[in-house]
Amino acid sequence: EIIPAILQELPGWYRQQAGDRELPWRTSPTPYHTWLSEIMLQQTRATAVIPYYERFLEALPTIEALAHVDDERLMKLWQGLGYYSRARNLKKAAIIITEDYDGKLPDDFNTLLKLPGIGRYTASAIGSIAFGQPRPAVDGNVLRVLSRTLASSADIAIPAVKTAMEQALAPHYPAGQTAGDLNQAFMDLGATICLPNGEPHCTRCPLERICLAHADGIEQELPLKSSP
Ligand code: ADE
Repeated sequence: EIIPAILQELPGWYRQQAGDRELPWRTSPTPYHTWLSEIMLQQTRATAVIPYYERFLEALPTIEALAHVDDERLMKLWQGLGYYSRARNLKKAAIIITEDYDGKLPDDFNTLLKLPGIGRYTASAIGSIAFGQPRPAVDGNVLRVLSRTLASSADIAIPAVKTAMEQALAPHYPAGQTAGDLNQAFMDLGATICLPNGEPHCTRCPLERICLAHADGIEQELPLKSSP
């Protein structure tokens, strides 16, 4: 069974290499911190996010502070990150959270999904990292890692392929901190090892021995993605 084998390798690797990637949202993960970081990370690389994340939290240390920030200050804090609708949605959601949820980020998946700016991936990342829920968070990077490890030639441009991957992983996910660690291990693999272009760094990959694409020498052929 390959999925349990994958999930067994990841937590140890994640703990071992975590020190190499000093990402501030991993050191004190409150639900607000996790939410903010996942929104910033939606379209921006982790190394670029770090200084913005730290400055933002210094200026707006709580969800309530975010709900009350004036728009000009908010846009200044976001300046350079791009995709400004992310910042506007953050504030909108903070107002809803302050008014309807006593200032606390809700932990319920479907409630999270209703907040502006939060889709399936982000709700799963928050659910697992902040609340220990057994929810796989599958984005394009994770889909690449999985397509290769499973030697799947499914077209990752098809949304149902992503859903199928989530459904294949979910029954094997544990609850508790390991769920978030697994998701972040997949993200780290996709960002640092199982790279899209050129050569993936298979010799440093914790999944090298079980990766079916690597066994067949087809890791560079995968994933398959039709152009839109
Ligand atoms: N990309 C999206 N979420 C991330 C996280 N929690 N850590 C690193 N990269 C990410």
